[in-house]
Amino acid sequence: MAQSAGNDGATRRKVGILTSGGDAPGMNAAIRSATKILITEGVEVVGIQHGYRGLLKGEFRPLGAADVNGVIRDGGTFLGSARCLEFLERAGRDEARRQARRAGIDSILAIGGNGTLAGAAALCDPEELGDQDLKVVGLPASIDNDVGFTGMAIGTDTAMNTIVEACDKISDTASAHDRIFLVEVMGRECGYLAMTSSIASAADAVFFPEANRSESELVQAVVTTVERARKRPQYSKRVLIIVAEGMDLSTNTLKERVEFALNDSAAEEDVLVETRVTVLGHVVRGGRPTAFDRLLGSRLAHVGVRALLAGETRKMVGWILPGQLPAEVSHPSEFDPYCNLIDLGAVLAETARMNDGTSPLVKWRRMIFEQIEEALSL
Ligand code: F6P
Repeated sequence: MAQSAGNDGATRRKVGILTSGGDAPGMNAAIRSATKILITEGVEVVGIQHGYRGLLKGEFRPLGAADVNGVIRDGGTFLGSARCLEFLERAGRDEARRQARRAGIDSILAIGGNGTLAGAAALCDPEELGDQDLKVVGLPASIDNDVGFTGMAIGTDTAMNTIVEACDKISDTASAHDRIFLVEVMGRECGYLAMTSSIASAADAVFFPEANRSESELVQAVVTTVERARKRPQYSKRVLIIVAEGMDLSTNTLKERVEFALNDSAAEEDVLVETRVTVLGHVVRGGRPTAFDRLLGSRLAHVGVRALLAGETRKMVGWILPGQLPAEVSHPSEFDPYCNLIDLGAVLAETARMNDGTSPLVKWRRMIFEQIEEALSL
């Protein structure tokens, strides 16, 4: 087999799998796929419980096929997850590496979002590793879709579907009362979930942090949207506005400002505009993964473990069309043409650009929504 280097009988390989940070639907699919592929290669598989916290505390359990059968249907992660402050310190990472060495783990597949991938890069930092040979490959898994150099992260599609389902329900009651609904969705600093779900749920407007709008611009945007809606025929007077959680202005404050702007100067006989806020919160992160997330988790994990077996390290497997990434920092997997092995340092740098708004991808998303803003509210 071209890139595979399973066990040649000399030293039995041992690969640890962990999920860390915010859980994402499809993580179980990735663990399952990685475990099954590794077993077929004769490699020992170790589940590391509760992410990096479990790694530095030695919370290990052997994983066999029976442990992963059926888990593809479950949301969350059966290995458990955690956010681990100790791991941010060098001493914590040294302890984690000691635990891995003691358990004979030579490679780790780390599944999670930005914090997890930053942790993966630090874990196999050559300067910190010394003479230890520990390979680490990361998979992007985050409902926020805020990881650089991957078209989609594991979990984003399920979260988007959950939001759309909730908005369809909210639309029913909003239409019945001609109300304005501000629906807040998760996404941390990233507006991707808000943007995509606004289109799929036929929202009238969407607010996301990347647009950098001032408070008065936001209030004015709602007022304009409501004025347009009032000109529609009766049934479609509902106004649905998706608000990303990472906005500087809280959604409840926006509601107050909007109600003041719309109702303060109303005449006595006017019907006052009623606004409601729904914060979807952690509902967006749970639930059975969609078929897409099951497939994405399975594909990325397949490529991830093949890469580890071939001796690759400090890489993330990104799901992106071939030829779209700088060749100096990435190469396509020979096992799956949509999966690229990308230098973790480059991934983290692009992620930082996405956060500060200088990434071409973020500029492009912002531009699209500027172009379609009026069309959304028609
Ligand atoms: O990163 C995933 C995410 O769900 C974000 O959308 C959200 O801001 C954050 O995690 C919530 O974190 P916690 O579950 O720790 O409150």
